[in-house]
Amino acid sequence: MTAAASAQAPTGEPFGKTKDGKSVELYTLESDAGLVVKVMTRGATLVQIHAPDKDGKLDDVILGWDDVAGYESEGNQYFGCTTGRVCNRIARGKFTLDGMSYELAINNDPNHLHGGVERSLDKVVWNAKGFTNKRGQGVRMTYSSPDGEEGYPGKLDVTVTFLVAKDSNRLTIQYKANTDKATPVNLTNHAYFNLAGAGSETVLDHVLRLNADQYTPVDDTLIPTGKIASVEGTDVDFRKGARIGKRIAALDDASTIGYDHNFVLNPRPADSRLNLAAIVRHPDSGRVLRIATTEPGIQFYSGNFLMGQVGKDGKTYAHRSALCLETQHFPDSVNQPNFPDTVLQPGETFESTTQYTFQIAIPKN
Ligand code: GLA
Repeated sequence: MTAAASAQAPTGEPFGKTKDGKSVELYTLESDAGLVVKVMTRGATLVQIHAPDKDGKLDDVILGWDDVAGYESEGNQYFGCTTGRVCNRIARGKFTLDGMSYELAINNDPNHLHGGVERSLDKVVWNAKGFTNKRGQGVRMTYSSPDGEEGYPGKLDVTVTFLVAKDSNRLTIQYKANTDKATPVNLTNHAYFNLAGAGSETVLDHVLRLNADQYTPVDDTLIPTGKIASVEGTDVDFRKGARIGKRIAALDDASTIGYDHNFVLNPRPADSRLNLAAIVRHPDSGRVLRIATTEPGIQFYSGNFLMGQVGKDGKTYAHRSALCLETQHFPDSVNQPNFPDTVLQPGETFESTTQYTFQIAIPKN
């Protein structure tokens, strides 16, 4: 794209309609360095990310569909969406706040998962406005969730800003939220990556490094036990970088059925707002994805529940053919007194940023 083209504010193109007749728009954000990102207004969802490989060839590296009906289908396991109001699990869908008890939908028996059933943030249509500034091209999506929606207290106003840098292959997602009553908030993006190109058969050949000495062990229903444990000597030690397939079989019979763990990120350097969370490398294509965040945790999920659903371009999404790296506060924080707090108070602003930088590995020989 020419520099002149990148000066134009992106506008939404029609992407179809939801079952209940709402129009959905798709925004395209481009970098002069090659990265192309498409985001739709249903669920403030990443629909496509085209990143260059070692030969400069662009491939779409995230799972998704070509139309809204795909996203509304049973096969959609939170592909690319903004996830909330509270991502991940809340034990038995229950919590108590300011002396009031709340009960949320149980949609991941026996727990609440990813904000609910009908009106979680991934299922509603957001308002959107494209913009350009000296940093790049972006789109700002807003949604106002009424008091009590999906059982959560307070009216929650959420803004998610997607920005593609002008001259590097970097996508930054910034989240902001305000409430009029104390309420738990934990927001993430649930993109499923395969750096060989979405629809490639596995991610077991990807090499993952996590900046985490500790993780939060879970019970049989994937609710944290409350312990913060060392990764030392476990199959979840990714501090030095390891092929995902190397030890995954050891977890086949665990409650997580593979990797589905929340990692506690090591403290961020004092001089930096963002903390390195993860580096994923796909040796054959040379693609590398670096994730940095202001969040204290990251869920690494190895696509264990993917079941061969057919997505974009008729491609099949097989078991463990994509991975998620969900930057977040820890699961079930609202019920876990020793985890960092996720309750947003009226008058406060929730703020969180995650950066996804696509690079090329320099061959060793
Ligand atoms: C999260 C969870 C997984 C699974 C996926 C969606 O990453 O941790 O257990 O529910 O979402 O399928």
